Amino acid sequence: MVNKIAVYPGSFDPFHNGHFDIVSRAAKVFDRIIIGVLHNANKKTLFTPQERIEMIKETVKKIPKIEVKSFEGLLVDFLKEVGALTIIRGLRTYSDFEYELQMAHINRSLLPTIETVFFVTKEEFSFLSSRLIKEIFFLKGEVDKFVSDPVLEALKKKYNEKCI
Ligand code: PNS
Repeated sequence: MVNKIAVYPGSFDPFHNGHFDIVSRAAKVFDRIIIGVLHNANKKTLFTPQERIEMIKETVKKIPKIEVKSFEGLLVDFLKEVGALTIIRGLRTYSDFEYELQMAHINRSLLPTIETVFFVTKEEFSFLSSRLIKEIFFLKGEVDKFVSDPVLEALKKKYNEKCI
């Protein structure tokens, strides 16, 4: 039987419309998708893993085949834990490709049974990044066309916690 469980991993700090585009298109190809939110205690993030999980769950709640979990450690170990054979990644630009190719090779050398499948980001999202969204938001620019309502609410809450 073909295993059509895929993991869509990332930092998602925060999750934006480019991520949503990739995972919703991947949901048309795979039976089940697990969004894997990286919890790396050594990496400083704006949102905690739980906050990121909540905002993603709210954003994808209309697509039942998508689940959201956090993971620590190696991505390939997370794939083994959830029984997935495929990693989904989005490609925005040529510069993404170099990094993504290296990751795909490394992951396959760690676990030869897995495949990495790339989805090319729609042009309208090809300039989006979580880093830029945070920068624009904290400089009081509008980000509502780049993120879902739950993510916008989470950003506003964080702004109030940090700046008031
Ligand atoms: O959204 P990002 O930050 O580009 O996602 C990167 C991610 C989470 C996919 C990558 O850093 C990762 O898989 N980290 C887990 C640790 C790991 O498995 N490293 C070896 C393969 S790169």
